Parts: sequence; C-alpha cells; structure tokens
Amino acid sequence: MRDNLVSAESLLAWYDVHGRELPWRVKGGPDTQRHADPYRVWLSEVMLQQTTVAAVKSYFARFTALWPTVQDLAAAEDADVMREWAGLGYYARARNLLACARAVVARGGFPSDLDGLRALPGVGPYTAAAVASIAFGRSEVVVDGNVERVMARVFAIETPLPAAKPALVAAAGRLTPVLRPGDYAQAVMDLGATICTPRSPACGICPWMAGCAGREIAATLPRKLAKAPKPTREGVVWVLWNGDAVLLERRPDRGLLGGTLGFPGAGWDGSEVRPPAEGPWEEAGVVTHTFTHFHLNLRVLVGHGAGATRGEFHGQNAFSPQDLPTLMRKAHDAALRHKET
Ligand code: ADE
Repeated sequence: MRDNLVSAESLLAWYDVHGRELPWRVKGGPDTQRHADPYRVWLSEVMLQQTTVAAVKSYFARFTALWPTVQDLAAAEDADVMREWAGLGYYARARNLLACARAVVARGGFPSDLDGLRALPGVGPYTAAAVASIAFGRSEVVVDGNVERVMARVFAIETPLPAAKPALVAAAGRLTPVLRPGDYAQAVMDLGATICTPRSPACGICPWMAGCAGREIAATLPRKLAKAPKPTREGVVWVLWNGDAVLLERRPDRGLLGGTLGFPGAGWDGSEVRPPAEGPWEEAGVVTHTFTHFHLNLRVLVGHGAGATRGEFHGQNAFSPQDLPTLMRKAHDAALRHKET
C-alpha cells in the first residue's frame, strides 16, 4: 500500500463531493467546526445497527418528528416508543434507547468523550466512537462492518474474521485523522456502502484504488470462518377473535421480542403448549421468520370465542396491526386472509 494514495485526505476529498446526503448528517466540507446534533447521530446509529440506511430514513423521520430532542424522547411514554420501534426488531434496543435518553437528560446532556458515552445504557464501543467523532469532532476509531471490509481490502488482510479484528482496528486507527474524524468515519462507511461493497466492488471509481493492496482479491475479503447453519424451530400462535376484538398478550420483558404485544403462542420460545381457550381452532397457514439464531416456522391457528386463560382482548380502536412486531404482523395477516376466505 502506498501511504500517500490511501489517506484520510484523499477520502475526505471524495466524500465532500460524493458522500451521501442523509437526514442525520451535516456535510460541512472542510469546515471543522460544524458537527451534527449528538441526539440525531446517536439515534441514527442505534437504528442503523438494526437495518439499512434506506429503511432507517422513515423511522428516523418519525422519531424526530415526534421527539425532536433527547429531552422529548426521555419524556415519552414507553409504549409509544415501543410502538414506533415496531418493525425495527430487537426490542431490547428500544428499551435501551429510552433508558439512554433518560440517563442523558439526568446528567444534563450527552457526554462528549468515549468513556462518558460508553457508560450510557445500550451504548457499545461502536456507537460511542461514532457519536464522539461525528457529533463532537474527537479522533476516535470507528469500526463497523463496512470499515472492516474496507480495511481488509486496502491493507490486504487475509486473516479470517473474527481473528482479523485487532489488525483491522489497528489499520483503521492508523488512517483516522485528527482533523474531521467524524467526516472521515462517515466517508469510510459511505465508501463501503456505495463502492467497496461486499460482492462486486466498483474498484474502477474508488478514490483509494491506486493504493489499494487488495485490489485484485477485493471481492474475497474480508475472509470469514464458516458459520454454523441456523437451526429451524417450529411454533404455534393462537389468534382468537371475539367479534372484532382479538386476544393479545404482552411478552415478558426479557427474551425474544421482549416487552412486545403479540398473539399467545408456544413451542418456539420455551412457553407452554396450551391454547388460550377451548377450540375448535382452524389452520390459517404457516408463516416464516428468521431471528438472529434460528429460523422459525410458525403455525397460525384461528378461533372464535370470548373466554381466554391468558392475554387480553383488544378492540379495533385499541390496537393497530402496524404496532405489532414483524413476526406477529405476519401471523395477523395470515389470520385475516383466512377470515376472508
Ligand atoms: N452506517 C452506520 N452509520 C452510518 C453513518 N453515520 N454514515 C453512513 N453509513 C452508516
């Protein structure tokens, strides 16, 4: 690798022209005093750990319209935040989001250094470094999956992940500048998302092409140890209608889909295999969903009745299917299709 070709300066020049315009981003160019709002940076980074930039945009817009500041979010009702988070997955993150907002307000604002940020609920090394550099201009080393891929290629690091991690972090650290560290971090991420992409990198238009040690083998990096395949679990949910009302149950705070509302179920999460009411139950089909550690085939059974041994009936006005986590929304859709046929 030729140092003068792979540098923060050459990437920043590219970023000033080609970096993406994103709702939480402030592109100030060479002006080193303009930084993004820590609340917006933190919120977007937490969301971006769940899904893609494209998917985050609408969630970010909703959240910041409802809660424009960290004080607003801290004062929100838990249930309102959980509802807006529905579909983003990992409810533990939404609970941590609220806990973090409240901790920030309690201490009088966001801390600006890595240790202070790391001490906040749900803030890991990645998010702390991202907020410290993007919102506070601190020269911290920000390493996410994009950064790992770019570093593995630029320095031709062929050790497989996760063993390669320390080398990738060291490489990222060598390139992180003192001036405009936040823009630099975002520039590497943008490079990874738009040019140095996982499968077919567009090396021909890369600002680091001339100095890239991994140019010839880029698409094969970073190497990874083969992962064990995900197991498949079988489960069932019972959708009980009482007129237009439907039986829902709040899940325990801890564990899969913790704290969310859904249909009583069994078999996939260790809960008891007993329907919440006497049958008859009709088969409404099987919906599939993939969690971090397993695939799930979930049978949807539909029944009618007023008596139930668990959960509570929610009338049409008391709940909206959009408020359910994705798995339960799929089950709801299957039950509705069944009802209509
Ligand atoms: N992915 C996660 N955080 C990002 C950011 N701040 N800019 C671009 N892509 C990202």
